Amino acid sequence: MSTLQIKHLFGLRGVSQSDIRTILDTAMDFRQVLERPVKKVPSLRGVTVVNLFFENSTRTRTSFELAEKRLSADTINFTTSNSSVKKGETLLDTLRNIEAMKIDLVVVRHKGTGVPKFLADHSKAIIVNAGDGAHEHPTQALLDMLTIEQHLGSLKNKRIAIIGDIRHSRVARSNLWGLTTMGAHVTLCAPSTLAPRNREFFNSVHFEQDVRKAVHEADAVIALRLQKERMDDSLLPSMREYRNFFGITRDVLEQASPSALIMHPGPINRGVELDSEMADSDQSVILEQVTNGVAVRMAVLFLLSGGRASE
Ligand code: CP
Repeated sequence: MSTLQIKHLFGLRGVSQSDIRTILDTAMDFRQVLERPVKKVPSLRGVTVVNLFFENSTRTRTSFELAEKRLSADTINFTTSNSSVKKGETLLDTLRNIEAMKIDLVVVRHKGTGVPKFLADHSKAIIVNAGDGAHEHPTQALLDMLTIEQHLGSLKNKRIAIIGDIRHSRVARSNLWGLTTMGAHVTLCAPSTLAPRNREFFNSVHFEQDVRKAVHEADAVIALRLQKERMDDSLLPSMREYRNFFGITRDVLEQASPSALIMHPGPINRGVELDSEMADSDQSVILEQVTNGVAVRMAVLFLLSGGRASE
């Protein structure tokens, strides 16, 4: 029997507190597996997973691949640079051809918002969103939540500040939905040109343009990467100016709780959104986020496969 209400993971918007709780608890169990000398379990033996990455990735792709191997799944990696997409094949034809090889799960990253849902509507495979445009990146938010819980015990009533390029950030969107569902208080902070256009953001969170006010008494500060590939040059006068007003520096961090966690989804533009001194400090949990990413992805793949196996 599936223990999740969802059948695919498109995003965290609308995902219930109980599903998020199940994923985080299962990830915590898999975190223990990753500490063992033999870091492997047979949970997905006989299951085939395709990693379809149409956008660049270091952490997410390797993390999914490692999670699949830790669960004993069979894994195929697909990237646009070495595929027939280069010869003009459509996304749907690519999926149908891969599906004809009898695969069970598809992990997809694509620049287009809604691509994971589109694939699910035209396929029998279980779909996991590994990042769709500026829309959602649910496993990143889940690993962020797991990391915060590990350090702070619970997400309920914790104050989380998310600073930076909110407009283009799928990480901010998924964190917004996930964190508020779990009872955290979220403050977003961005220059006006990188603030979200969509008012849905302001209904459930506080928006603040002064970074010092945004991080005031925060329990965790998540710095976001400037998504230069999704913005035109007119949005920011210069990187130096951005750093001066929105960069997470020692001085800014003094406004937060003394033990505030410093987080970043990576890759970091050091000295722009986050000073190296802060990224490498004792308060930084950035590499723990990466480790937790494997456990979270194991949990998502395991739980969604369980759902399919019961049908
Ligand atoms: N955090 C994240 O999505 O990193 P990658 O782009 O390297 O996958």
